[in-house]
Amino acid sequence: MCGIIGYIGGGDAVKTVYGGLKRLEYRGYDSAGAAFLTDGKIRVYKKQGRVEKLYPLLDGVRSRIGIGHTRWATHGVPSDTNAHPHRAGGIAVVHNGIIENYAALKAELISDGAKFVSDTDSEVIAHLLLKNYNGDLTEALFKTVKLLKGSYALMAICEYEEKIAVARYKSPLILGYGNGENFCASDEPALYGLSEKITVLEDGDLAEITAKSVKIFDKNFKRAERETEPNLAVSASLGLDGCPHYMLKELRETPLSVEATARAFKGVKDKLVSALSGVKRFVFTGCGTAYHAALCGKRYIESFARIPAECETAGEFRYKNPVLGEDTAVIAVSQSGETADTVEAAGLARSLGAKVVAITNSHRSQLTRLADVVVPVAAGPEICVAATKSYTGQIAALYLLAAAVAGEKFYNDCAEKISKTPALISATLESLDMRSLAHICASSSGVYFLGRDLDYAVALEGSLKLKEISYVPGEGYPAGELKHGTLALIDVNTTSVVIITDKVLAEKSENAIEQVLSRGGKVAVITNVNGVRERFSDLPTVVLPECDKYLSPLLAAVAVQLLAYKAAAVLGREIDKPRNLAKSVTVE
Ligand code: F6R
Repeated sequence: MCGIIGYIGGGDAVKTVYGGLKRLEYRGYDSAGAAFLTDGKIRVYKKQGRVEKLYPLLDGVRSRIGIGHTRWATHGVPSDTNAHPHRAGGIAVVHNGIIENYAALKAELISDGAKFVSDTDSEVIAHLLLKNYNGDLTEALFKTVKLLKGSYALMAICEYEEKIAVARYKSPLILGYGNGENFCASDEPALYGLSEKITVLEDGDLAEITAKSVKIFDKNFKRAERETEPNLAVSASLGLDGCPHYMLKELRETPLSVEATARAFKGVKDKLVSALSGVKRFVFTGCGTAYHAALCGKRYIESFARIPAECETAGEFRYKNPVLGEDTAVIAVSQSGETADTVEAAGLARSLGAKVVAITNSHRSQLTRLADVVVPVAAGPEICVAATKSYTGQIAALYLLAAAVAGEKFYNDCAEKISKTPALISATLESLDMRSLAHICASSSGVYFLGRDLDYAVALEGSLKLKEISYVPGEGYPAGELKHGTLALIDVNTTSVVIITDKVLAEKSENAIEQVLSRGGKVAVITNVNGVRERFSDLPTVVLPECDKYLSPLLAAVAVQLLAYKAAAVLGREIDKPRNLAKSVTVE
């Protein structure tokens, strides 16, 4: 969580740091701040709220060395004081991560006379740097990180030397190279247009950056060599293409995401099949929306390959002392490839001898470095905090993974079927009119998404998306479980959205509709099953094109995502940046 950027060189540090923070804002937007070295003095500028709130404060500031931070609060409320950078004496630092032992460190520093002004865990780092400083900022950082427990990507500057000292452990950090200038940042898009070459630092690494040189050190403070790679960030990450929100733009890119993911899959299929041969059990894992995609993966592998499979959220999986061995494959699903719980779950699986497959939209991330095989999701950059096209891309990748494990002929049939799906998704997007249902949901006291089997996985996603961007409460629930508890919540002020794309289970889900209607609840139906629409012709119904039942989640997904988008628009929410959230959750 949080995004950080640093610049040193002959150019305009203020412009570079501010521009980088704008591109990093998806990582958190509770507050933003920057520190610059100007005329031998460190000056800190910070403000609660979006990065743009920082802009007026930077008017007239001139500097060639600076660090910046956009925050997603963990310790301490969002406020000007808790915003980064934090400083102690002539040293300023920005931090992405969590310092778990900060309370003990803080108590010790206070007893030594340090004065704290914020409620953050990160401020201890500034005081430790000052305490450990003996003429060399990089050495002070090395001594400091030795004392920290938790996760960190750190950048520090000081009044005494013209350099940036950085370090990382379990939070992402890259270096970028220019002509007479160098950069450091949380990710590649932050350096888009600034640096064509980057280095991804490894856990435990430190680096000392000046305008003319970059020195990297390993965890023992020995000089280290790290690969230099091209910066793969693309400009597409910046434009709205005429849409009012990134969410709508990205939702409209779903057909492309599915098509490109299916094309990219061909390049990894053989490697994947050989890595998974002999696997007797699959475990699918991920967080949030990625977990909902993983649920589809479990269902696909069981149905197509008849191999036992489980699915668990990564945050649960990593702490349950899982039973894993060489005959198990763990399929870790993550848009960013940086989600702390998913990365840790994959690392644990690897350490226990399981095969690890990453399904990710980020082709150079902590997750890809851990995986035996990476199955790319080719959704392209996703800026809106709420996942849309990456989710459908993940489902496409999982569908093809399961089909490939099931055998060549099965795979060929599935590849043929999925090649027709982008056109069906486009038709769905063009035909959907969610306006009246969006108004109904926006004015409901609770919205319940119901479904069975794969429709249940989409119901969970529909509910998450609606809650996340519109703040309307509700739940995703298995249609058959409704009568075992949740039915008590149904009244005239609630709406139930029932998803029915499986002919065989249609009748069963129709029972749930009747149960809700007879308690006075409002009901809407999303379906592509003939007969369902006719039977409930007086209810608001969203009709999807007919489609193979295993690919129906791709159509139902865009329907529930669009519904959430429209409901959030009715309520005037800040759709691309919902409150309390961040795109990349790199903390526990
Ligand atoms: C919801 C959403 C989140 C993410 C979750 C995992 O719209 O985007 O629930 O799916 O934080 O993120 P990744 O996929 O990057 O691991």
